[in-house]
Amino acid sequence: MTHDLFAELPPEPTCESLMEGAVVLRQFALAETDQLLAGIRQVTAQAPLRQMKTPGGHTMSVAMSCCGEQGWVTDSRGYRYQPEDPVSDQPWPAMPEALYRFAGRAADAAGFPGFEPDSCLINCYRPGAKMGLHQDRDEQDFSQPIVSVSLGLPVVFQFGGLKRNERPIKVPLAHGDVVVWGGPARLRYHGVLTLKAGEHPLTGACRYNLTFRRAR
Ligand code: SIN
Ligand code: FE2
Repeated sequence: MTHDLFAELPPEPTCESLMEGAVVLRQFALAETDQLLAGIRQVTAQAPLRQMKTPGGHTMSVAMSCCGEQGWVTDSRGYRYQPEDPVSDQPWPAMPEALYRFAGRAADAAGFPGFEPDSCLINCYRPGAKMGLHQDRDEQDFSQPIVSVSLGLPVVFQFGGLKRNERPIKVPLAHGDVVVWGGPARLRYHGVLTLKAGEHPLTGACRYNLTFRRAR
């Protein structure tokens, strides 16, 4: 009888280059999804997920919460970072240590050492939710990268150019994948296509995205 020693081992994380300054670290978060999901539960117990309104008055399909010194918010006054949760007027929950350290390791693995995020946005996509092409440009220092973690249901990520009209490439993202972009890719347009119906054993009918940034 032959015994396949490797059949039981989880696949190794791999690093895929998207374009200069942007990589997908496939399955980089897989070994830590329990801690990351525990962090999400802890934060959203204090700062519940909510669907915010764009400055134009549209309700976002993605439900969001934040942790860290700065949280990203949108309302009729615009897009911005602020230290308080507008729902409670209290400071955002502290960023769980495991999340902070994970983001630093991912940035490091992508070639951006010394990343110290002060903000982690939690995006919760239910089937039908999507995020249109946009740039992340509410941060002060564009020399700092962005670390973006996918948990739960898969989705198609779009990664485009520095102008909105440049056709984006499509990148399928699965549970545990991490996208990191910075340097010449820092201001590239990106978004996600509509989440398809499904059930994930760890998150149910949901995809979580954690976006780590240095806001200030
Ligand atoms: C975002 O760009 O804010 C979210 C990206 C994602 O959900 O993967
Ligand atoms: Fe973004």
